[in-house]
Amino acid sequence: MKVVNSILELFGKTPLVKLNHFKKDIKASIFAKMESMNPGASVKDRIGLAMIEDAEKRGILKPGGTIIEATSGNTGIGLALTAAIKGYKCIFTMTEKVSVEKRRYLQALGADVVICPMTAKHDTPENYVNVAKRINAETPNSLFMYQYNNPSNPDAHYHTTGPELWEQTQGKITHFIGSLGTGGTVSGTGRFLKEKNPNVKIIAADPYGSIFKTYKESGIMTEGTPYLVEGIGQDMLPENVHFKYIDEIINVTDKESFHMSRRLSKEEGIFCGGSTGTNLAVALKVAKDLDENAVVVFVVCDTGERYLSKHHSDEWMREKRLLEKDKTTIGVVFQTKLSGGLPNMISAAPNETIGDALGRLEQYNVSQIPVLDENHSIGSLTEADLMSMIISDPATIDKKVSEVMGAAYPVVDESEDIKYGIQNLKSSPAILVSQYGRIIGILTRYDVLDFV
Ligand SMILES: Cc1ncc(COP(=O)(O)O)c(C=O)c1O
Repeated sequence: MKVVNSILELFGKTPLVKLNHFKKDIKASIFAKMESMNPGASVKDRIGLAMIEDAEKRGILKPGGTIIEATSGNTGIGLALTAAIKGYKCIFTMTEKVSVEKRRYLQALGADVVICPMTAKHDTPENYVNVAKRINAETPNSLFMYQYNNPSNPDAHYHTTGPELWEQTQGKITHFIGSLGTGGTVSGTGRFLKEKNPNVKIIAADPYGSIFKTYKESGIMTEGTPYLVEGIGQDMLPENVHFKYIDEIINVTDKESFHMSRRLSKEEGIFCGGSTGTNLAVALKVAKDLDENAVVVFVVCDTGERYLSKHHSDEWMREKRLLEKDKTTIGVVFQTKLSGGLPNMISAAPNETIGDALGRLEQYNVSQIPVLDENHSIGSLTEADLMSMIISDPATIDKKVSEVMGAAYPVVDESEDIKYGIQNLKSSPAILVSQYGRIIGILTRYDVLDFV
């Protein structure tokens, strides 16, 4: 039987996937290192296992002990998976910024999670690292892993990620791109690759707002400013960022990171988090000036499932003003309208009376409704037309809707660009929104204006 003895044997040995659709004008080869395929779906599984096993070897983690860590989630998951198998308890401190998916994942693995304010700077007692230190001091038989200065973190990448990349590219890798959170991935992998070939360029992707780029280029420590990408960038210098292995640091905006992450999912089927988008943005910037001999590898840090309530949600992107205007879909406008509280669909049936349909217009205080026959758009009614017909002939009130209805509204799929919707709204006062071929609601000229 070909089996593994536990999930721990599945950590690492992740594949390299070639990018195809992003290649257009790029001569270099670009590969994604699929860390999202680890059992805990992130690059941090490797260090969760390594930090625990090294602590066991050194005798500082004892049976039945409690592991404490300050984490943006992924390291917590790597530690909690390993701890579940080896029988340790876990307490994690995290900031409010971390997605609810990561928090619930850790709780599902049996860990205790303490949420700390996002605004607490690194030198305040409320900061998540300082809270972890306090919990460590108060908890008997506990060990604070402290991934920011724990040497097992970069060592894990020196011993696994680096050699895997060297072997997978048959020593042909020319550029490695990763982001800096603790620095472990880039420092450990960078050290290994530089030892093999000092010409391999190690390039770090860093969000605007983080201090790393300015520090590397000028030695000046700036005040960090907030950004939305999770798990990377800092307002302090972790010991595990080994600048000597890093050739260059390139800043990326939140908007670019999230759009790249979303594009990688849609165009290459690689469902990933925001920091992967940061890495991809840098990989593309670097690769565009390289020739066909260049082999560029960037890290897919974690899975997009961890951010379904964040940048993989159109509503969240819109709320943060990160959606490109020309990419706004009819579905997004419709969802925004829905949050206004009206039922999805107010319509009339062809066989009901005008009196009943008019009652519905008044009940919901709307001025026009579509006429639907088994979910097909067959006509429309407007309050103004009905009123004038009833005034000139009061008997209209008992007529069937199908006898007096006006032109049917066009049906437009929710995935279409809103520009297409607006085009239709020039000749029709409303459009009907469809999803998988079924009409799910209406957008009027007023709704679109309200959105704009
Ligand atoms: C989503 C994500 N991407 C990237 C990183 C950066 O990795 P490292 O800590 O090895 O620098 C982290 C670290 O927590 C992370 O959570």
